[in-house]
Amino acid sequence: MADPSNTNVPRHVAIIMDGNGRWARARGLPRTMGHKKGVEAVREVVRAAGDIGISYLTLFAFSSENWRRPEAEVTDLMGLLKAFIRRDLADLHRENVRIRIIGERENLRSDILPLLLEAEETTKANTALTLVIAFNYGSRDEISRAMRAIGRRIAAGEIAPEAVTPELIDAHLDTAGIPDPDLIIRTSGEERLSNFLLWQAAYSELVFVPEYWPDFDRDLFLKTLEKFAGRERRFGGLTPASILAGE
Ligand code: IPE
Ligand code: IPE
Ligand code: MG
Repeated sequence: MADPSNTNVPRHVAIIMDGNGRWARARGLPRTMGHKKGVEAVREVVRAAGDIGISYLTLFAFSSENWRRPEAEVTDLMGLLKAFIRRDLADLHRENVRIRIIGERENLRSDILPLLLEAEETTKANTALTLVIAFNYGSRDEISRAMRAIGRRIAAGEIAPEAVTPELIDAHLDTAGIPDPDLIIRTSGEERLSNFLLWQAAYSELVFVPEYWPDFDRDLFLKTLEKFAGRERRFGGLTPASILAGE
C-alpha cells in the first residue's frame, strides 16, 4: 500500500501502451479487439497505481502521428476514449483521481474536446493519483507550441531572451506543474520513445517489457516497478555510496 517515505516507489510513471494490434493479430482477432482489451488494462493499471501510492501516472493514448492510421481505426480509438471517459469518469472521481490531458487541443473534433474538458474540470480538486492522458500528443508538437508562446512573449517585450531557461520552458509545456517522469515503461518489445515526453524524459529510467499492452496487468506492473527500484539514478553526479567508497 501507499508509503510515501519509500523512495523506491516512483512519483511519476509514464507508459507507452503499445502492442494492441499485435495482441489481436496473435489471436486472429481484428485490431479493434486489441484496443478494447487495452482499455481493460488501463483500468487495472490506474487502480494499481493508486494503491501503490504513485502520484502521477501518464498514459500515451493517441499520438499526433496516429492520425496516419486508417480512418476506421482512428474512429475506433476516438470512440474508445469517449466511452472510457463517459463510463469511468464517475468512478475515477469517486476514487479522488485527478485527470489532466496533455496534447494539442485546437484541432480536436467537437465531440471529443468537451468530454476532455469535463473530465479535467470535474476532477480538478482531487488529491489522490493524477492521471495524465496524453491524447493527440507529440513531444515535438508540444515543444513547438511552447516555443511559439515564449516567442510571442519576447516579441511583446514581456520577457527578455535571457529569461528563457529550462524552468521557463517547463512552465510553457503541456506538463507544466507535473514533475518529470521517474520511470517510462513501453510494452510490446519496441525500444523507442516515439515522440513521447522527449524533454521531460531527460533523466527518466526506461524499462521496455516484451508483453503486449492488453496483457499488462497488476503483477507485471509490480514486476516492472521492482526493476526500477533496482536502478541507480545519478542525474549526472555520483551516488553517496560511490563517494564514500572513494571510487
Ligand atoms: C497501441 O497499440 C495503441 C495505440 C497506438 C493507440 P498499437 O495499435 O500501436 O499496436 P501495434 O503496435 O500495432 O501492435
Ligand atoms: C506510440 O505507439 C503511441 C501510443 C502508444 C499512443 P505507436 O505504435 O504509434 O508507435 P510507433 O509507430 O511504433 O513508433
Ligand atoms: Mg504500436
